[in-house]
Amino acid sequence: MKNIVVLVSGGGTNLQALIDAQNSGIIRNGKITCVIASKPGVYALERAKNHNIKTRVLARKDYADVASYSKAMADAILEENTDLVVYAGFMTILDEQVVNAMPNKMMNVHPALIPSFCGKGYYGLKVHEEALKKGVKVTGATVHFVTEVCDGGPIILQKAVEVMDNDTPETLQRRVMEQAEWKILPQAVALFCDDKLEVRDSRVYIKE
Ligand code: GAR
Repeated sequence: MKNIVVLVSGGGTNLQALIDAQNSGIIRNGKITCVIASKPGVYALERAKNHNIKTRVLARKDYADVASYSKAMADAILEENTDLVVYAGFMTILDEQVVNAMPNKMMNVHPALIPSFCGKGYYGLKVHEEALKKGVKVTGATVHFVTEVCDGGPIILQKAVEVMDNDTPETLQRRVMEQAEWKILPQAVALFCDDKLEVRDSRVYIKE
């Protein structure tokens, strides 16, 4: 059984999708053992508490810089005997100290089809605002391994979602979550926990 640590910064609907997948048996060989938030008071922490999952808060504002925050996060992740780290709406930048502690053992869900609308500054609603501005007809979500390059790690799963003429950033965000993120994030976690993901030359292969 793999220990999964989930990093959150907000409402935690992706965390909820993972909890539901664990309860329904989609994730069979992993267990969410700790949820770490980058700020206190976020609703994701309530979701964890409602399911008796341990919570920790590592508030970014308590640390002087990215390096000291990343060191504290790497230490916390190691303390939790973590096998997999999942960024589920985690909006705080971490440096290579964390990646080096968990190579190919951290994944992130991004609300667009990478390499579109990704990288520094593209997070949350902003991603959908830019997709609408560009007028794309199709967007979606990506789950990828985390490397030191922002949104640049090996892609595990992607799912496309149609854009409607009358979409606002909010309606598009909701559809991308419902049709893509809440499905492919639990699937990717289940594949990892079942030892079905292999990374070769920056590509992810799914073993049969
Ligand atoms: C999700 O749409 C997630 O993909 C996005 O933030 C939202 C968090 O929602 N993450 C990023 O933009 C990271 N670059 P949630 O807290 O309800 O899961």
